[in-house]
Amino acid sequence: MARAHKYDVLVVGAGGAGLMAARYAAQNPGVSVAVISKLYPTRSHTGAAQGGVGAALGNVSEDHPEWHAFDTVKGGDYLADQDVAEKFSHEVIDAVYELEHMGLPFSRTPEGRIAQRKFGGHTREFGKSAVERACYAADRTGHMILQTLYQQSIKDQVTFFNEFYVLDVILEDGSARGVVAYELATGELHVFHAKATIIATGGNGRMFKVTSNAHALTGDLMSVLYRRGIPMEDPEFYQFHPTGLYKIGVLLTEGARGEGGILRNADGERFMERYAPTIKDLAPRDMVSRAMYLEIQEGRGVGPDKDYILLDLTHIDAAIIEERLPDITEFARIYLGVDPIKEPVPVQPTAHYAMGGIPTTINTEVIRDGNNTIVPGLYAAGEVACASLHGANRLGTNSLGDLIVFGRRAGIEAAKYAASVDYEPMPDGVTERTRSELDRIRAASGSERASHVRKALQDTMMDNASVFRTSETLQNQVEILAQLRERYAQVSVEDTGTQFNTELMETVELGFLLDNAEQLVHGALNRQESRGAHSREDFTERDDDQWLKHTLVYKEDDGSVRIDYKPVTLGKYEPKPRVY
Ligand code: FUM
Repeated sequence: MARAHKYDVLVVGAGGAGLMAARYAAQNPGVSVAVISKLYPTRSHTGAAQGGVGAALGNVSEDHPEWHAFDTVKGGDYLADQDVAEKFSHEVIDAVYELEHMGLPFSRTPEGRIAQRKFGGHTREFGKSAVERACYAADRTGHMILQTLYQQSIKDQVTFFNEFYVLDVILEDGSARGVVAYELATGELHVFHAKATIIATGGNGRMFKVTSNAHALTGDLMSVLYRRGIPMEDPEFYQFHPTGLYKIGVLLTEGARGEGGILRNADGERFMERYAPTIKDLAPRDMVSRAMYLEIQEGRGVGPDKDYILLDLTHIDAAIIEERLPDITEFARIYLGVDPIKEPVPVQPTAHYAMGGIPTTINTEVIRDGNNTIVPGLYAAGEVACASLHGANRLGTNSLGDLIVFGRRAGIEAAKYAASVDYEPMPDGVTERTRSELDRIRAASGSERASHVRKALQDTMMDNASVFRTSETLQNQVEILAQLRERYAQVSVEDTGTQFNTELMETVELGFLLDNAEQLVHGALNRQESRGAHSREDFTERDDDQWLKHTLVYKEDDGSVRIDYKPVTLGKYEPKPRVY
């Protein structure tokens, strides 16, 4: 028997988007709200976001939301929906002030205003030069957002179910009725009946070998809904952040380049001057990551294997580094034994962010097709979702903006919906699918181990589907994924117990990762052009005639993959070649 719960609004995930949504839903009198999270909330990955949240406050130099919207659209290589970018760039200003009023300890200008710094792809006057738009709290902006929102959620009397893994979403007659979750402490299944369910579970970077993402980021709900017939939008657009710590992938914020940091090759050359003459090291991430790989391919990488690049901060005043970049300074010292004040830091691109995800309207309603057909009662926000804001490449700082803007919209919309409907009846047997998969894994006797399959997945995704791709590498990866699925079916676990069975959950998460990889690779193989973070060596140009459209990747009942499309909402910014 599963334990049963009932809430008007259910939020899955306790990062920035989930907590913002929960707060907004909970502020409606009479609306009961619960958050289910596989982590303790303040361990959510929002806490790892460093450099800032972009909003055109104009505290340091002139800025306007129109400039921010334009940068978002151009940075996204014109695949961003322009109505979404326009709304976002206005609403994020208000959302940042709201965080300030909640007590978030932003760094300050000498006059006491929220401090702002430069970041990749953010410009004044539609591309003339870099602008200070990232509102920051040293290099702990995400950490501060998470702590602030968690405190507020407690004040708002949101109920939390921590260390609960959501393994299924209950969809009946086309609408959402709640979720099935596994309690890590006891191994019990729980059924959460809800009028409205908000998915806010973050990304899927753990499918790659080198990543800035925490261990928990296994794309669980992107897989659960995919298995339930909901398509994933634009999964081929996966962002590699240029400055991960060499080999480890831990993030070194773009804010370091915003403060004046420079990328250098083995000749000591500031090579970004050649690739982006106007904004140089502050070009969008897709361009910088590609430039770094090209430098390495052409023999100008650093180190014995000539396979990394240097991030040079040594010319910046030590006091500024200590005050504005304390965490990354510590990371470089601890993990690499390098002191950024005295010597350049070895870096390499690291898998960082999924631009695509669960398709939604601008109001965070989940849609099931290219005609924007809404799934009643189901919402998604944050990295797990795709409101079509980021297009083919997200600008740095727009992830934290996305969390607070769309988390807020999700909370408002879900509470409104919950107030307008009764609970739909819960169908029979809702836990059967989950229970039988868990029983299958517990009873399996094959010799395969989840950790081995996961490593093979991460290594091959890095080789075949990361910054540069070709039809050959992607086709190869399709075949590798099929083999990995066969191996996955043979995975057995040593721990068959009920209490804190992390081995069982890691095995389930591996199944989710395999689905996420499938979505990405099929989307990438299908898209025969280069755009934003999707760089095909066999189709090197952007092709607006054929490909100015969003991808939708579906899982069919027979296990095959089907691709469909959704139009891009254009606006006043005509697609042009991206020059920085
Ligand atoms: O570089 C950073 O601080 C990361 C920010 C982001 O992904 O938006």
